[in-house]
Amino acid sequence: MKVSQNASLKSYNTFGIDVKAKTLISINCIEELISVLDKNYADDLFILGGGSNMLLTQNIDATVIHIDIKGIEVVRETEEFVFVKSNAGENWHEFVLHTLENNWGGLENLSLIPGNVGTSPIQNIGAYGVELKDHFVSCDAIDIQTLEFKTFTAEDCEFDYRNSIFKNKVKGKYIITSVVFKLTKSDHKLLTNYGAINEALDEMGIVNVGIRDISNAVIKIRQQKLPDPKILGNSGSFFKNPVIHNQQFEILKKEFPEMPNYLVGKDSIKIPAGWLIDKAGLKGYREENTGVHKNQALVLVNYGNATGEEILNLSRKVQAEILAKFNIDLEPEVNIF
Ligand code: EPU
Repeated sequence: MKVSQNASLKSYNTFGIDVKAKTLISINCIEELISVLDKNYADDLFILGGGSNMLLTQNIDATVIHIDIKGIEVVRETEEFVFVKSNAGENWHEFVLHTLENNWGGLENLSLIPGNVGTSPIQNIGAYGVELKDHFVSCDAIDIQTLEFKTFTAEDCEFDYRNSIFKNKVKGKYIITSVVFKLTKSDHKLLTNYGAINEALDEMGIVNVGIRDISNAVIKIRQQKLPDPKILGNSGSFFKNPVIHNQQFEILKKEFPEMPNYLVGKDSIKIPAGWLIDKAGLKGYREENTGVHKNQALVLVNYGNATGEEILNLSRKVQAEILAKFNIDLEPEVNIF
């Protein structure tokens, strides 16, 4: 356990925002977590995982708990499947690489997503046709008030697009300590139908596609489109892709026949927010220390010393322009504090 006072959180959030925590405690094992929770009142705690899906706009006048509990183990195996448990503090991408090294299939499309394993269920991370929920078995979490452990099954988690029970009913109530995934040992189900993956595989000259090739293709696409947070602070997609009613879509389609769209329910259409922002002429837009990324308009970036407030202001400007041009309300995907 490492405890520091008045600590900068700059290296703990991928936006690279330099706010301070009253107290920062890095936790390396469950016993440490229990002893810290026992001493601190729940309302004076702020839980931090990989810091990849948050925008910090002010100093945190609380005890920030950085979950850094490592460890990966196989908990069960059948002829076809392996059940792998990862502790919450494992880096997501390193965990994915570990599964691929063992030739376990399922998570390859989720390569290079920033963040930690423990926070991945909260927003049901997803990319290139796969969501965490497709391979999730359960997670263990500790109740911050009672210190009791609870196992959440996939059903308990109420997963939805970038959403789960941890963002709703039990928000702030639990800390996830480990996650179990069900992965294939052979006959892997390869999902390459997401356009860009096939193109990348072709460019790489791959004919007999395997899970590692898919991972490499995803890494290649992400590196081309998405800025590396180590170089340019960002939090991935800043907004969710909005879902609009069919009636509104029909109206918009007349003006913008080329607008990409995906049917998600009987009368609901999902529109890529990146396309809307791009179409509004904001791709590559820069405002002092902040900007809209030049290759993927859904990503807001910190050019160096931006404050959280500056990024928040830029996000509001983007929201206002999209509302004015398309009458669509963009909802942030990142958590704002
Ligand atoms: N588009 C543009 N201009 C842009 C960006 C996108 O016209 O600047 C268009 C693309 O041409 C395409 C459509 O919008 O027709 C969708 O773009 P893309 O395939 O890049 O995906 P996305 O909807 O923008 C989502 C996720 C990403 C994930 C990708 C790939 C959300 C909010 N974002 O982005 O997730 O990597 O799909 O599956 O669902 C993240 O959550 O942080 C994240 C990066």
